Amino acid sequence: MIITIDGPAGSGKSTAARKLAARMGIPYLDTGAMYRAVTLAAIEANADLRDDAALANIARQGDYHLDLGPTHIRVTLGDRDVTEEIRSMRVSERTRFIAASPGVRRELIERQRRIGRQLGAMVTEGRDQGTAAFPDADIKFFLDASIERRAERRYHELLADGEDVTLDQVLQNLRERDTTDSQRAVAPLAVPPDATRIDTTHMTIPEVVELLYDTIRSRGLNMVPASHRDTHVII
Ligand code: C5P
Repeated sequence: MIITIDGPAGSGKSTAARKLAARMGIPYLDTGAMYRAVTLAAIEANADLRDDAALANIARQGDYHLDLGPTHIRVTLGDRDVTEEIRSMRVSERTRFIAASPGVRRELIERQRRIGRQLGAMVTEGRDQGTAAFPDADIKFFLDASIERRAERRYHELLADGEDVTLDQVLQNLRERDTTDSQRAVAPLAVPPDATRIDTTHMTIPEVVELLYDTIRSRGLNMVPASHRDTHVII
């Protein structure tokens, strides 16, 4: 069973996806972490961020790995744990180049589908999971919230991570990412036509998770395939 959750940054989809997956006992895939890992790898390789072939090569051959489980996701680059570093503003400010690269997207979507086949059941979240990556997903969600609320959420996360940022900088970064994510030529951020839309502006995370869970249950989907409980994969 493939459950997709798409939406802009700060819509609450990452936390909701992680908690929903934990509740269902299946892994979750944070596809933003894949784009972020490739971004960090490209920065460290001093790659030209507008060179599609160079970026695609890093996406294909870079020494980055994601360790997925129902309650955690760890990202490594070489032998370094970069789980936190990929969330920094230094990386966030450059992801749009990597996200706009057709070669990178081809490679990452292919990897996402491979992971889906390997796991059989997962919650996957990003910008294009219900559209480009898994158009035949069993159930699709699209989460959104006002830009002010999304910026506030990201700002508090960054502060908690010890970043020295202002709310205005975060708001500006979200505006830029919203624009480039929805206007890029390949796999733009879009609402899948068959998705359930949820506005999380005035909702708490537990409320969002409850609503996702109830929606899945009301569709009569097989909630926790026993063979996939606690599946754990390293890619
Ligand atoms: O979700 P998160 O903010 O971590 O994603 C980082 C960036 O990766 C986004 O701004 C977006 O440009 C890109 N992304 C994407 N497609 C996805 C997931 C993320 O283009 N499926």
